[in-house]
Amino acid sequence: MIHIKNNMAVWLALAILLAAPSAFARSDNADPLTGRAPALEDNEDTIKRRTGSGNVASGSDKAKLCEGCHGEFGVSIDPLVPKLNGQYDKYIAKQLRNYQAGIRSHQIMNAMAATINDEELADISSYFAKQPKMKGNTPTTNEKGKNLYLKGNISKMVIACVNCHGANGKGLTPNTSMFPVLGGQHKGYLLKTLIDFRMDDRANSANAIMNRIVRSLSDADLEAIAEYLSGL
Ligand code: HEC
Ligand code: HEC
Repeated sequence: MIHIKNNMAVWLALAILLAAPSAFARSDNADPLTGRAPALEDNEDTIKRRTGSGNVASGSDKAKLCEGCHGEFGVSIDPLVPKLNGQYDKYIAKQLRNYQAGIRSHQIMNAMAATINDEELADISSYFAKQPKMKGNTPTTNEKGKNLYLKGNISKMVIACVNCHGANGKGLTPNTSMFPVLGGQHKGYLLKTLIDFRMDDRANSANAIMNRIVRSLSDADLEAIAEYLSGL
């Protein structure tokens, strides 16, 4: 029940995107391949908008424990621990709330999330969001993954990922924190979480949209997409 607002928002966002790509996705310097707005770059304005209103300085102190696993400034070096640097503050906070509520399950994170209160959560989320956006460790080119990401697969009814996650997986707009940054994330984590969605081991996206999207994709498809994204 508490997800009704989210459900409506996600479908509304999708309807707007599909019905009026010109309103949302086109811009003067559109990418020639996709006709879409270029990837969101870090600048004062985009960083400010994704950072939200938490206290970054106290977030920096409170995040020390998290950084033990997620890396200094959220730049994780463990392929199964997601990078948090430059992720939207509201997305980070939502995941923590989902771990707290048991809507998303992971033994370590359920325990970690239980230790922080609302104010700490706002500060920590803003601190990680404020960092320069995550970036791939090694450049990779995976044409199959790129194609699936940018064009989807009509015969498998897969909507192209770029519609929601933006060019290069860098986010759709500076304000739309519903769709996480994926470009530059670890391949290992991306693949694990995509398989979790497909198996319904993770089902916390609005209206289970991610579960539906990856349902018909094979292991090889998911691996190709994860590899493409991790290099961006
Ligand atoms: C002991 C290691 C460890 C610690 C400490 C830890 N995490 Fe995590 N975190 C993980 C792992 C592993 C995952 C991936 C879980 C999964 O696969 O679902 C994760 C996932 C997350 C995610 C989901 C990210 C995404 O892209 O969906 C967020 C947000 C997060 N952690 C925030 C935090 C915060 C904030 C703290 C500190 C309060 C923290 N973590 C402490 C290991 C840790
Ligand atoms: C209609 C919009 C939409 C489309 C299209 C879409 N996604 Fe998502 N995706 C979402 C939403 C919403 C979430 C956030 C889930 C949450 O709140 O936990 C998400 C989350 C994710 C995550 C989890 C990120 C993390 O840090 O844990 C991955 C990975 C992902 N999507 C990959 C993809 C891929 C790959 C495709 C294309 C095959 C795709 N998405 C298409 C809406 C979409």
